[in-house]
Amino acid sequence: MLTHDLGRQVFGNPANAGNTISLQDANQLLDDWVKNESLKRHMRQVAALMKAWAREVEKLDDVGQLKWETAGLLHDADWDQWPDDHCKRIVEELEKRDIDPEIIHAIASHGPRFFGVEPVTTMDKMLYAFDELSGFIHAYSLMRPTGYEGMDVKGVRKRLKDKAFAAQVSREDIADAAQRAAREVDELIAFAITHQAGV
Ligand SMILES: [Fe+2]
Repeated sequence: MLTHDLGRQVFGNPANAGNTISLQDANQLLDDWVKNESLKRHMRQVAALMKAWAREVEKLDDVGQLKWETAGLLHDADWDQWPDDHCKRIVEELEKRDIDPEIIHAIASHGPRFFGVEPVTTMDKMLYAFDELSGFIHAYSLMRPTGYEGMDVKGVRKRLKDKAFAAQVSREDIADAAQRAAREVDELIAFAITHQAGV
């Protein structure tokens, strides 16, 4: 269906490799572009997961962690104001700012079904994997009297099977993304519960 087809597979300029965007600039961009507070929180939660995964699992250095974190922080930055141009706007903005192509590619490939861009790197695949799952887990936390407190993998699993709950979250995308990342969905759920609580 490719509702938001980006129409290309190459993003940014290889000469900009290593050009990160600072957290300050990324947050400023969010403040300028995003009025919806729950969307902002979603991006902060995905950013927290990406940073934690880069650090704990991939063992990346500070620059690597910042790349993962800012990709998470900005992946839906244009959704609030320009839903019809979703992904195109933020990709073009980061290209204009001469940001590292790896960061731009991760954002461009976070919804292969919509944007027509395949996740290639581990960063691409983990952003795709955490995006829907993080939103789902947060929705689940909101309906639990104790929020994230005492939440476990089994409870999340049960809700995933309940098709009426958070029906807009694609279970197929969650499974597809985990498979591409060669990770178990349960592992990703456990990681997300631990690392996005309180964000
Ligand atoms: Fe998202």
